Amino acid sequence: MIRCISCGEEYEDEKIIYTCEKCGSILEVETNVENVPRDTFENRRQNIWKYKEFLPVNADNRISLDEGGTPFCKCEKIGKQLGIDLYVKVEGSNPTGSFKDRGMSVGTTKAIDLGVNIVGCASTGNTSASLSAYAARAGLKCAVLLPSGKVALGKLAQAMFHGAKVFGIDGNFDDALKTITQLALDGELYLLNSINPFRLEGQKTIGYEIVHDLGWQSPDRIVLPVGNAGNISAIWKGITEFRDAGYIKDTPMMTGIQAVNSAPIANAVKNSEDVITPVENPETIATAIRIGAPVSSIKAMRAIKESNGTAETVTDDEILAAQQYLARNEGIGVEPASAASIAGLKKLVELGEIDKGEHVVCVVTGHVLKDPNIAIESSEDPIKVSADPDAIRKVIKNL
Ligand code: F0G
Repeated sequence: MIRCISCGEEYEDEKIIYTCEKCGSILEVETNVENVPRDTFENRRQNIWKYKEFLPVNADNRISLDEGGTPFCKCEKIGKQLGIDLYVKVEGSNPTGSFKDRGMSVGTTKAIDLGVNIVGCASTGNTSASLSAYAARAGLKCAVLLPSGKVALGKLAQAMFHGAKVFGIDGNFDDALKTITQLALDGELYLLNSINPFRLEGQKTIGYEIVHDLGWQSPDRIVLPVGNAGNISAIWKGITEFRDAGYIKDTPMMTGIQAVNSAPIANAVKNSEDVITPVENPETIATAIRIGAPVSSIKAMRAIKESNGTAETVTDDEILAAQQYLARNEGIGVEPASAASIAGLKKLVELGEIDKGEHVVCVVTGHVLKDPNIAIESSEDPIKVSADPDAIRKVIKNL
């Protein structure tokens, strides 16, 4: 069953619908799962389909690249420095290098179920990279709309290479999303942005995996970057479903981090407003979250409120510093948007909003190679030397 999150109107799962016909609000899929003991998930392959009873599509027909089951790394050094217990969920280890694969696996499975033959999305990069790959695997045609000149190189390469028809539009992500949504409403394609509630059904498995990885315990807090606000909503849905199933008792404080000039949700939370004010010209070096009018803002604001969480902003400099801090202290390479979660964590600890000793999970959403230009610009150039041990000896002696 698909349900409007505002007025409660219900729609059949087979209906192609993105917003409520009655009130215009956004939708979610209701998962009715009963009597599934939690040991059902043991000894299954480590991917999102491990939780197939909770995924509202036919798992036998799944389009999958073995997504999910990503590394869950304890970060002793950073944790110690910040005075907390820290784990990082490394979503860059998914097949196309971001968490979007979880959503695209379920989304393209749904597309096949529905019998559509062309899928599409707007994207700041990762969604298009993922959809292009999953559409190829599913044998679906694919069109993606990107903000021209504002997509990191690795993501653009993936979208092009897997065979999507790639459009660079004159405008930002919010403009691209508006345009592709119009095409979807006109019946030209099946939309696989996170306004499609089946996408989020795949992404909620991040929440499942975190509590499962912790031995059926909730962390005190989950910190993650927020752009279009689908992921924070999806993870909260996953957590509450597992709580309602009786697998865990407590729930984490959902903590969203945005770049300071692309921060409609963090601004609303800070000003104690229930509704966001869109940001007209969002800017940040973390192009993945360069978004001014997040489509899932109502869900995200609810997740933050219900979970007693919060939202914070970070500057581009803080993002770049956190990216390097994580790479050089823990060996985990992430793209700038993902590092926003670490930057936000650090800031909230410094502000005293996060207590000493808290159990925190940071979700790092995309791989460092997604944005190779940033990685290179933030690093020292290779030293040019002759192939002579003496020339190198001098340098490594002083390391
Ligand atoms: N981190 C990365 C690496 C992302 O690519 C995105 C979103 C986010 C965080 C934010 O997640 O939108 O669910 O709040 N990228 C989208 C895209 C918008 O088109 O790839 P969100």
